[in-house]
Amino acid sequence: MAERPYVIDELISAKAIAARIEDLCRKIRREFSDTDKLVVVGLLRGSFVFIADLVRELDLPIEVDFLEASSYGDSTESSREVRILKDLRGAIEGRDVLVVEDIVDTGHTLNHVIGLLTSRKPARLKSIALLDKPSRREVDFRADWIGFEIPDEFVVGYGIDFAQRNRNLPYIGKVRFTERAS
Ligand code: PRP
Repeated sequence: MAERPYVIDELISAKAIAARIEDLCRKIRREFSDTDKLVVVGLLRGSFVFIADLVRELDLPIEVDFLEASSYGDSTESSREVRILKDLRGAIEGRDVLVVEDIVDTGHTLNHVIGLLTSRKPARLKSIALLDKPSRREVDFRADWIGFEIPDEFVVGYGIDFAQRNRNLPYIGKVRFTERAS
């Protein structure tokens, strides 16, 4: 399939992301100030940049683990299926857990993952998403902490891809399709 040309306009700068992460970490530190060792779970692949910056700013005793989920099916709630492609390496029963996601769109992925991890009886389970698109929500779910609420734009960068490209942009950009490549 021929690729449609596009340009990327900056939506959220690297500086704004860093400042927001500082704010969020102050809140997370308050929540988990009494924890022995927080398990920070990154959802692959999109969260890999966010989790790297988040844990370095967090300044708490942590362990890092990863989980990969993928959702299939059409957009109707009943037929949307979330599958676990890669599970956690460690057990989380009785542990304090923070799930880190890049973006909540329909909400199916994070809603499913939180349900799954809740069934494993962690002591405390919280979630954070850098971006939230509430206008796209299909299930009633909200992360405990949100970096930025955004409109229904096609976003890329800071871990988020467009057909597996542009994950390494240091900022969040908005895809704008053009007639000709530029
Ligand atoms: C994206 C994103 C979230 C999910 C959000 O993942 O990283 O995990 O979709 O969508 P939802 O709220 O509608 O479920 P994707 O499946 O594109 O995989 P990736 O993280 O590997 O890019």
